[in-house]
Amino acid sequence: MVYLWSVLSFASLSMALAGLLIVSERLLISYGICKLDINAGKKPLELEGGQTLLASLYANEIFIPSACGGKGSCGHCKITVTSGGGPVLPTETPYLSRKEIRSNMRLACQVKVREDIYVRIPEELLDVRMFVSSVESTRELTHDIKEIMLRLNDPAEIEHLPGQYVQVQAPSPDGPVFRAYSISSPAYEPNIVELVIKLIPGGIGSTYLHNLKVGEEVVFTGPYGEFHLSEDPNIEIICVGGGCGMAPMKNIIYTLHDRWPERSCWLFFGCRTTEDIFYLEQFKELEKKHPNFHVLYALSDALDPDEKWDGETGFIHLAVDKHLEAGVPRQAFLCGPPPMIEAVTRALEEKGIKSEDIFYDEF
Ligand SMILES: Cc1cc2nc3c(=O)[nH]c(=O)nc-3n(C[C@H](O)[C@H](O)[C@H](O)COP(=O)(O)OP(=O)(O)OC[C@H]3O[C@@H](n4cnc5c(N)ncnc54)[C@H](O)[C@@H]3O)c2cc1C
Ligand code: FES
Repeated sequence: MVYLWSVLSFASLSMALAGLLIVSERLLISYGICKLDINAGKKPLELEGGQTLLASLYANEIFIPSACGGKGSCGHCKITVTSGGGPVLPTETPYLSRKEIRSNMRLACQVKVREDIYVRIPEELLDVRMFVSSVESTRELTHDIKEIMLRLNDPAEIEHLPGQYVQVQAPSPDGPVFRAYSISSPAYEPNIVELVIKLIPGGIGSTYLHNLKVGEEVVFTGPYGEFHLSEDPNIEIICVGGGCGMAPMKNIIYTLHDRWPERSCWLFFGCRTTEDIFYLEQFKELEKKHPNFHVLYALSDALDPDEKWDGETGFIHLAVDKHLEAGVPRQAFLCGPPPMIEAVTRALEEKGIKSEDIFYDEF
């Protein structure tokens, strides 16, 4: 009992001291005006020190990916800090490999601007913009997945590549937060951004998006993401999705058929039950128009006795293994939960696809 009280007292004292340090840093310490140099003089800025690097960049309309809203729990906000960032913090190390630490990679949400700071940011991130849009339509796809179409107002057009995503700003009691959502509409429709959203019970971003009504304003930044569809029409495209990982697949498939109607493409999509199936009829119609497009959905749970299903059964990597021949030049895009990505990657590598030709988004 005495031991428990000592531990509790020590923990409370430590927390109180940490809180005091944060408050006194905010109130008492002024870092003055600091220089923020981006890409060796390409974009020099001057700003009041004391904020995180992520917030300082955001205030200057440089939108670094930040799926957790700057809490240090997504690892998306990596940038190179060549000088002035201080030592790497314990909150950063779970998200940085040794190689990344050696090359001065940091989490922008954990680094405070306390002195002149020099950073390197990939050029494409400097082109990321903020968009104001309004909800054009919403559609229930399953019991927990909704399609939301946003019409862009300012700017009125977005240039994006298949596989890229946006970060939607959602209100929360602690202020606005950003969540990443893949663009499901093809790039040839630049005035709209369509999203496919799974409702996470209690989730800030997904609940906000599921409750949106037609006409409401939605703010997002983008586009983000590094997937580049091969321009070589002889490279077969393999899309494998599961759960709510459909959005980038839809974008890739429609973009592909618009540019190369004859190009070979497979869509494998894993669902648990028949209640989780969506877009299947739409893709079956597309399959009729494009003979080199193949659609296979697989159900992982057992069917009810009265249910009919003539598609695949079992986990989706089994369908990939069953249907793909080895030795064909391919590029693959995977999107879904981590165990699915792992199993499918193994199946694709066994078919001879190199790991550098396999791209994925885990969520
Ligand atoms: C690049 C990228 C693209 C993405 N694209 C899409 C997309 O197209 N469609 C889509 O629906 N989502 C997508 N996501 C996931 C999305 O960004 C959010 O993580 C998701 O919507 C949950 O956010 P939230 O604010 O609703 O929940 P939070 O408020 O962040 O979380 C609430 C609680 O739910 C838990 N939680 C969070 N995610 C899950 C989950 N998947 N399953 C179970 N529990 C969870 C959290 O740990 C927390 O306890 C994408 C993520 C990334 C990184
Ligand atoms: S914003 Fe999520 S870790 Fe930095």
